[in-house]
Amino acid sequence: MSMKTVMITGANRGLGLEFAKQYAAEGVKVIACARQLASATALTSLAQQYSNVTLETLDVADFQQIDHLAQKLAGTAIDILINNAGVYGDTAAHSFGHLDYLAWMDTLRINTLAPVKMAEAFLEHLQLSNTKLLVAISSMMGSMADNTSGGSLLYRSSKAGLNASMKSLALDLQQHQIGVLIFHPGWVLTDMGGPNALIQSPESIQGMREQIARFEMAQSGSFIKYNGQVMPW
Ligand SMILES: NC(=O)c1ccc[n+]([C@@H]2O[C@H](COP(=O)([O-])OP(=O)(O)OC[C@H]3O[C@@H](n4cnc5c(N)ncnc54)[C@H](OP(=O)(O)O)[C@@H]3O)[C@@H](O)[C@H]2O)c1
Repeated sequence: MSMKTVMITGANRGLGLEFAKQYAAEGVKVIACARQLASATALTSLAQQYSNVTLETLDVADFQQIDHLAQKLAGTAIDILINNAGVYGDTAAHSFGHLDYLAWMDTLRINTLAPVKMAEAFLEHLQLSNTKLLVAISSMMGSMADNTSGGSLLYRSSKAGLNASMKSLALDLQQHQIGVLIFHPGWVLTDMGGPNALIQSPESIQGMREQIARFEMAQSGSFIKYNGQVMPW
């Protein structure tokens, strides 16, 4: 049995960095991606501490860069591909009435289109592995059922679109035995989550790693919370 490989986007801070830390400590091979490695100091020290961590530059908004990285890593089996990189997009100054449509398109590109592009580009790498799991870090804010407060049009629509896309990929990739898991990571204390968040990153990542470890194909396409609780669409 060869060692498992996990690839993580947006691994330089927040949830992505915590994923990289915990998988590194577990002894899994980690391909940690960040768009600015030069300023990714915490991730760089992690790679110095653990020889099983390799760093790659990847701006997920740049689809050519995604293709180039897929080519560079051709022949490398990726067991678990974690699409974690994301932006909030919405700002108080650009709520309804003053919407910034270019910012909306950027948000959709990063949160919705990029995870699908990653799946296309790294399909062969997933197929080379034994585990074959595509993970999307979505949000409860992408849920219609959960939307009781309105607002956040950019973020909500981008995560709703991500969920719809991943649900389709779950069905479409079943023939390749590739599983898809969609997470709400909880409301977590990160730059995006802000100071009022309910849990710390280690708890969220610990929970998601447990759910990933016990994943079975019958579950593919489900939208779950970090603790395994099923999320409403
Ligand atoms: N925190 C929460 O409460 C919460 C709740 C629900 C869902 N989520 C989701 O969880 C994921 C991680 O969020 P977080 O809380 O860790 O947020 P964060 O602290 O703001 O970190 C976001 C990460 O995404 C990266 N990123 C953004 N745009 C990118 C791009 N174009 N290419 C590559 N990387 C890019 C950032 O890199 P830079 O440092 O280069 O900007 C950073 O590493 C996101 O998808 C988010 O929507 C978070």
